Amino acid sequence: MPPRYNPRMGRLDGRTAIVTGASGGIGLATARLFHAEGARLVLNARRADRLQAAAQETGAESVCGDITDPAVRTNLVQAAGGRVDILVNNAGYGQPGPCEAVPIEAARRQMEVNFFAAAEMTRAVLPAMRGARSGRILNVSSIAGRFGYPLFGWYCASKHALEGWSDALRLELAPFGIKVVLIEPGPVRTDFFEVARARGDALLSDKESPYRDFYVAVDDIEADMMKQAGEPEGVARVLLKAACKRRPRARYAVTGMAKMMSVLLRVLPRSWLDAAVNRQFQVPKRAPPEE
Ligand SMILES: NC(=O)c1ccc[n+]([C@@H]2O[C@H](COP(=O)([O-])OP(=O)(O)OC[C@H]3O[C@@H](n4cnc5c(N)ncnc54)[C@H](OP(=O)(O)O)[C@@H]3O)[C@@H](O)[C@H]2O)c1
Repeated sequence: MPPRYNPRMGRLDGRTAIVTGASGGIGLATARLFHAEGARLVLNARRADRLQAAAQETGAESVCGDITDPAVRTNLVQAAGGRVDILVNNAGYGQPGPCEAVPIEAARRQMEVNFFAAAEMTRAVLPAMRGARSGRILNVSSIAGRFGYPLFGWYCASKHALEGWSDALRLELAPFGIKVVLIEPGPVRTDFFEVARARGDALLSDKESPYRDFYVAVDDIEADMMKQAGEPEGVARVLLKAACKRRPRARYAVTGMAKMMSVLLRVLPRSWLDAAVNRQFQVPKRAPPEE
């Protein structure tokens, strides 16, 4: 007899998912939703108290630590018991500041966390996924992975790297039955902006900087972004769709702003786009004279 449809069955029953950056924001919302849908979870983040609370709430295993640490990644795979159906590469942050002014160590760290750690985490789960001839790699990118905007050049670079790498990976892994999906949120109401502020504060308050006129409007721009911001639960629902759909799309723009940008990127000439971005980010027409 065929199994009867059970409406209480979760869409992720019997599946194991690793979620990085699960101590807040999009990662925590995703952990909650995946748990509600029956997934067995392994969570990661650096803040032990928050991670523990998330793990307790979702009945998850947890591995506390920096995702750039190889031992943390190995422990995550081990905690999953050698079987990973879904990997959500979500841990990340934004390093603000002009491309010229961000210290190269901070720029490298941005690439390490947002790109190389996600790439290495993926490589750690691939042997098991290839063996099972199935699996999903869900990479939380950003609409910043599709175009560059001022004062976030290094963040945009890290997400562009993730996008190009994911596109290649998607084609390489399709013959093994493994699907790779990019999630591209616009602004989302999480700690992201607060974390970015803390990292960029010294740079963005440098009154001597040749870019000082860019900084005047930072508060306005952030307030404007917040007005358009989506909720982390909305991003989590798209991640669930990407985890469940038989034929998921290569990329999902999430939030109204991201969807609008991905359309504009297809239809507008670059010079028009630049003008629109300059307006939104209140880029000064002329930089102040050099002292
Ligand atoms: N919010 C937005 O507007 C927005 C828009 C587009 C894309 N995104 C992307 O969405 C993802 C999640 O961000 P969010 O908005 O949810 O921000 P968030 O609330 O600040 O969450 C970021 C998460 O990443 C973790 N994390 C950061 N660095 C880590 C590291 N080195 N090792 C392990 N975990 C680390 C943080 O935990 P700990 O601090 O405890 O380690 C936290 O759980 C990021 O990749 C971000 O780029 C966000």
